Amino acid sequence: MTPSTMLALLQRGYGGTDVLSIGEYPVPVAGPKQLLVQVHAVSPDSGTVHLMTGRPSILRPFVGWRTPRQPVVGLAFAGIVSAVGAQVEGFAVGDRVAGSAPAAFADLVVANPAKVAHVPTGVSMADAATLPISAGTALQALRDSAKVQSGQRVAIIGAGGGVGSFLTQLAVLEGARVTGIASAAKAAFVRSLGAERAIDYREISDPREWGVFDVVIDTADGRPVSVLRRALAERGTLVIVGADGAGGPVLDGLERQLSTGLLNPWVRHRLTSTIQVERASDLQILLDHLAGGRLRAPVAEIVPLDAARGAIEQLQHQRVPGKIVIELRAEDR
Ligand SMILES: NC(=O)c1ccc[n+]([C@@H]2O[C@H](COP(=O)([O-])OP(=O)(O)OC[C@H]3O[C@@H](n4cnc5c(N)ncnc54)[C@H](OP(=O)(O)O)[C@@H]3O)[C@@H](O)[C@H]2O)c1
Repeated sequence: MTPSTMLALLQRGYGGTDVLSIGEYPVPVAGPKQLLVQVHAVSPDSGTVHLMTGRPSILRPFVGWRTPRQPVVGLAFAGIVSAVGAQVEGFAVGDRVAGSAPAAFADLVVANPAKVAHVPTGVSMADAATLPISAGTALQALRDSAKVQSGQRVAIIGAGGGVGSFLTQLAVLEGARVTGIASAAKAAFVRSLGAERAIDYREISDPREWGVFDVVIDTADGRPVSVLRRALAERGTLVIVGADGAGGPVLDGLERQLSTGLLNPWVRHRLTSTIQVERASDLQILLDHLAGGRLRAPVAEIVPLDAARGAIEQLQHQRVPGKIVIELRAEDR
């Protein structure tokens, strides 16, 4: 008989990692346009931390005022399809897949096939789980927002983080000359991703002293657009992806994204921002890069579900170089 409950990482309020616990939760049922996936690996990101803390509070109308409407933590997962809705095409039971879906940090997750891609042979579940949010954001920031081209001088702020470590690699793959801005503790890691230089932002804080760049992408600095523009060449492009703790408790820096749109028509620089759209087609590009050895999943550590709280705490304090993976079940090979 199929069990009616499963193990999941649950969140019972907003706050620190003490609001998280592992517990039983009803097994979800896939609708006719959905997939049911048995989850092997998941990877938290800064979005997991935002949903845990309930900050910025502008999120609350969408996720729940006092407690999260969705009690199971999510989003990025890799696993094996265990049921296919009657109207879903292109997937079969037993397929190895990765994707993003709410409530993914559980034994089973219901997913929208538009956000799910096939994991190629040779790519591990742990590596695949790092891609859907962090690498997906990096790809869209680099290709769609920055439009990075070969030979350009590119600065990645936060190059040692989840999004930044993929941005650095994808920019190098595009033929750019990359400078990574990161703490000294992550300098060697940033260079191992292909950056020509790693600059410690605590030692050199004025962007003018970082160099002159055709493109600057910010995933971490959080200072106003006018400050980051100091590192741009005359016709350079600034892309704001985000920065934790960049502003007040309500918007937490989201006003910088707004200001790029307002300022852009009036200045010689191109100022823009990225808001990720989770797409199977982009995820497939990234998975194929992994399979082809053009990209590596920057996995700092793989931990079991019962260590999930500690892993998310590490992420919250920005101690993780690259990505952390939580493994729910090992894959039979
Ligand atoms: N727009 C979107 O659609 C979208 C999607 C995903 C994420 N985001 C946002 O992007 C940001 C990064 O996310 P993430 O998952 O990559 O977070 P993450 O893994 O925590 O990485 C952030 C990195 O920034 C570094 N850092 C902190 N302050 C810095 C500074 N002043 N200069 C340079 N580096 C600094 C941190 O470590 P060190 O200090 O040790 O270097 C850390 O490695 C978050 O604000 C997140 O909300 C936006």
